[in-house]
Amino acid sequence: MPRPLDPFLRTDLLRFTTAGSVDDGKSTLIGRLLLDCRAVYEDHLAALAADSRRLNRETTDLALLTDGLKAEREQGITIDVAYRHFATPRRRFIIADTPGHEQYTRNMATGASTASLAVILVDARQGLLTQSRRHAFISVLLGIRHLVLAVNKMDLVDWSREVFDRLRSEFMTFANRLGIEDVVCIPMSALLGDNVVTLSPHMSWYEGKPLVTHLETVAAGAVDASLPLRFPVQSVLRPGNDFRGLAGQIASGRLCVGLKVLVQPAGLPATVRSIRLGESLLEDAQAPRSVAVELEEDLDVGRGALLSDPEHPAPVCDRVPAILLWMSASPMEARTWLARLATRLVRCTVEALDCRVNPDTLETEGPGTPTLNWIGRVTVRFHEPVPCDVYRENRTTGSFVLVDPLGNDTVAACMILPADGHVQGLSPLREVRTPARLITPEASLVSAQERFELLRQRPVTLWLTGLSGSGKSTIAKALERRLVDAGHACCVLDGDNVRRGLNRDLGFAPGDRTENIRRVAEVAALMNEAGLIVITAFISPYAEDRARAAQAVGADRFAEVYVDAPLPLCEARDPKGLYRKAREGTLPEFTGVSAPYESPTSPALRLDTSSLSVGECVDRVMAFLEAGGHLSVPAVGNR
Ligand code: ADX
Repeated sequence: MPRPLDPFLRTDLLRFTTAGSVDDGKSTLIGRLLLDCRAVYEDHLAALAADSRRLNRETTDLALLTDGLKAEREQGITIDVAYRHFATPRRRFIIADTPGHEQYTRNMATGASTASLAVILVDARQGLLTQSRRHAFISVLLGIRHLVLAVNKMDLVDWSREVFDRLRSEFMTFANRLGIEDVVCIPMSALLGDNVVTLSPHMSWYEGKPLVTHLETVAAGAVDASLPLRFPVQSVLRPGNDFRGLAGQIASGRLCVGLKVLVQPAGLPATVRSIRLGESLLEDAQAPRSVAVELEEDLDVGRGALLSDPEHPAPVCDRVPAILLWMSASPMEARTWLARLATRLVRCTVEALDCRVNPDTLETEGPGTPTLNWIGRVTVRFHEPVPCDVYRENRTTGSFVLVDPLGNDTVAACMILPADGHVQGLSPLREVRTPARLITPEASLVSAQERFELLRQRPVTLWLTGLSGSGKSTIAKALERRLVDAGHACCVLDGDNVRRGLNRDLGFAPGDRTENIRRVAEVAALMNEAGLIVITAFISPYAEDRARAAQAVGADRFAEVYVDAPLPLCEARDPKGLYRKAREGTLPEFTGVSAPYESPTSPALRLDTSSLSVGECVDRVMAFLEAGGHLSVPAVGNR
């Protein structure tokens, strides 16, 4: 007979977190959710109306529902994590309401650590801010796999579809690069209730669900009881001499009477004699229940010990790579901290700062000194061996906070990475293997001017971007021919060729495309330095990647050339038969069909290949190069 489900493990419970910047209406949204789902009591509403009158608000101010703390009412900001409960007939919800102020990122992190979905709120008028990106990034670091972008205050942009589409495309690109798959964007007005519980009559162009329907139906599950057992011992109970219970919350897996467990880090085998929940005895229990466990053996087990599955014990480590989020207002100092990992407290040192991650671009850079909101990769040394997991595998035993032993303040949150340091699923977060401080660039003895004179040209990177089949490679080759015929030194970098060599380890997932473009831009920069004119032919579908390529090459040497042809034309040409495969469903993530292409908004040159011949396109590029002074360099003085 199938085992009855533990009623505590209700999949109809969704824990989610909300994050937004100041004033983008987060408290109003939560107030609206609570109100429209009838989670607010009548007397509370009366008090609210009175508060609104006292504060001279014209209508009942929903934000006052959630801005429950006195200080935040007075300052108009939210300053702590508050957990709100509400329910619809289909699901129960717990919202971790966290503040948006920069200095309160720590609360946002606390809220996200127990949630399985994050609602990132933005003001339609303001668009995505660094804060929004940081919130999405931290949510993903903390293991959240479902994101909702709530584009709020649509009433203030005339319910504009363009505004929403632009924000959605920008956020989708970012979320793709984070490696997160379930992203839903919803245009709404929390104040007026549009697309919160019911579909908005003002945005008939929106084809998705209102927020609550999405939250009710999203497949974001409860704690996975199928993971290996981890039971961190919180305290030892001795109600009578004959019972010595180990109390705690099951972090993962299940316990049952007679089960063999391993007591870590001591490494002692033991057997479960009984499991108690208050006065009752249970045969078994699973995560996330809190219980008291009695062992057959008389072992010296105290707070901080971990009962584990002997077949899959937690690795016992004294040094771990981790993503660290610095949350203290004072910069990090080199000293000993206390690490609180599940119920264990150990002394530790941050042994190395490997790199910092920029939350806007997701790129790694030199670590510098961690200050408020610094996020990066570090190596932590525990002063005694600690049983711990990789965060991706277990949120409880895979994360820890750093506590200042002097003031008892929490200064950082850390998520343990796998030993090889790869941040799985966060492909743009490529590891910087050589820290900047170990590198001293060498200056050349040959000046750029000397190279100009030698080759009688000013190097440039002509960055051809466009759909597959738009004509990039054809134009690139014809242009190269024309330039060499005219006596110029140039070179073509073409996607299909580069992907056979330098970039053969990359596929077509968003992060791989980003890395493809990053490497090509670096190569183009080197070739330009050597004096060559470079023509690149890559789809390069993401505007952000192209902007970074321009940065790597140098804006004055970079010209974006949009090889423009409508999708139906490219598809009709289908030179490699790939569109057909994509339509048949045998080629996933194909640009234009099942992967996005972001057209350049202000290219240096646009070549419309639906109306221009190859020769005419080349003429236009040549004229552009002439006009930019790239094809002739007057000699300066005599050498
Ligand atoms: S990019 O998106 O990363 O810039 P790139 O220009 O290097 O792409 O490579 C595109 C070429 O790879 C296309 O011309 C096509 O021949 C081939 N290709 C194979 N699979 C895909 C795919 N899923 N999407 C786009 N191009 C693909």
